[in-house]
Amino acid sequence: MRKDNPLFPARLHHLCLSARDLGAMTGFYRDGLGLEPAPLPGRGRLMRGGERMLVLEPGEKRQLVYSAYALADEQRLVRLREQLAGRGIRAGASPSPLFREGAFSVSDPDGGLVVFGVPAKPGASSDRLPGRLQHVVRQSAQIDRIAAFYRDGLGFRLSDVVHKAPGSATACFLRSDPEHHSFAVFHAREPAFDHFSLESSGWNDLRDWADHFARLSVPIFWGPGRHGPGNNLFFMVRDPEGNAVEISAEIERIPDGRPAGDWPHNERTLNQWSGSWIRS
Ligand SMILES: [Fe+2]
Repeated sequence: MRKDNPLFPARLHHLCLSARDLGAMTGFYRDGLGLEPAPLPGRGRLMRGGERMLVLEPGEKRQLVYSAYALADEQRLVRLREQLAGRGIRAGASPSPLFREGAFSVSDPDGGLVVFGVPAKPGASSDRLPGRLQHVVRQSAQIDRIAAFYRDGLGFRLSDVVHKAPGSATACFLRSDPEHHSFAVFHAREPAFDHFSLESSGWNDLRDWADHFARLSVPIFWGPGRHGPGNNLFFMVRDPEGNAVEISAEIERIPDGRPAGDWPHNERTLNQWSGSWIRS
């Protein structure tokens, strides 16, 4: 029998990005992603939608300050905290204004902050274009250590690994519910934020999103295509500070107990339709 895993199911609920030009970033996330700006205590800004939410904080550009995962209830949250303590993972305070009391944060081996909590209130009214916040990706020079931390420490399950050579992984995809990945880590020379993804309800939504970005003169820099791991349809745009934003559809759902898959490191793995953004 599978061991108790209080993390399952957890979903990516919101992210905090730091912004050098808070005005330009607010404009993009308001007009481009349809999020409603609201002030927060301090100098941050909440960008609120129905199923996608971000916190923008003044600071350096292209920095993921934290990613926040919602658990179903407080009992699971308490059990997760106890389980992490038993594994020697120290819980710190939650920096998120969107979770109830009891939320906490942990640091991954690169110092990346991950927050777990129960949402304080539901999102705003429904989104004009469907796209719920679904996964976030970091870059790291030590992806085996990062993947081990998320899997053996936090309780994520490994869905797929991309290898350049045996023992030399270039990408690891991990899930916290049946969807293929809610977190992934890609090999790079140093830790960095890679991208986040909004999962829409189907291929037609990608057309509508692409038309919407065209009206705003926001170019697609990668895609449309279909990823190998995750099998999702996608395209990507950049926000004004260069953060990559993915619009996705039809991400794979993984049956319980499916062993992790192996993929070769090549263009076809990143994009079955050919044409790839190879990071390393
Ligand atoms: Fe992605």
